[in-house]
Amino acid sequence: MHKVIAIDGPSGSGKSTMAKKLAQSLGLLYIDTGAMYRALAYILDKNNIPCEESPLLGDFLAGLNIKYGENDSQLIVINGEDLTHTIREHKVSALASEFSQLPQVRSFLLDFQRKLGLFEICVMEGRDIGTVVFPDAFCKIFVTASPEVRAKRRLDQLKEKSNTSSDLTYDQVLKDVIERDRLDTNRLVSPLKVAEGATYMDTSDMEEDEVLMKLIETSRLKGQEVGLSI
Ligand code: DC
Repeated sequence: MHKVIAIDGPSGSGKSTMAKKLAQSLGLLYIDTGAMYRALAYILDKNNIPCEESPLLGDFLAGLNIKYGENDSQLIVINGEDLTHTIREHKVSALASEFSQLPQVRSFLLDFQRKLGLFEICVMEGRDIGTVVFPDAFCKIFVTASPEVRAKRRLDQLKEKSNTSSDLTYDQVLKDVIERDRLDTNRLVSPLKVAEGATYMDTSDMEEDEVLMKLIETSRLKGQEVGLSI
């Protein structure tokens, strides 16, 4: 059993916001694996590494220095470049969706994530945490919402976080959400799916407070079952 609260779900399901709040409420380390895929995709693209399996990609990954900072002010740094804010730009979402299909990229981040999750009880959030990274996590939760609700949330979030996305329309974001779902659920390696034994939460009609309460309740209950008091 690993001391990990694994939270998975599609883009814009609100899982990042809620996973972060859950970690804060319980005083636990929060690990955002989507930020890692985003940062890596950005760096690979910037260095003109083609989005395909290759020795070139392998060599590039082997030479990378990646640091996960565990706080908002410096969340992710690769080769000394602070990518905390860059990774929230809309174009990076598409890059991450493409590069995260590659087994070489996934296996590189899998190692990194497994090491990070070993030390203390943590909330780790992504697409494959409960299925691949920590299938024996003591608590697994799948958070989702309808594509329409997720597109609206994503648009609000983008407007808040990035000043480059003001010209994006709801229809464009909805289209992107649907396309990313298709890529995330159909990829050959670690597709997005509900992990065995996971608690399923559809948050389309739920307020944030309600989602947080349910996450806390589920985490505590699962913790009790394995003798972890959180
Ligand atoms: O959660 P997010 O939108 O920040 O994730 C960015 C991309 O990374 C998304 O296309 C899916 C991918 N991802 C993944 O494949 N596996 C993870 N554990 C986390 C994210």
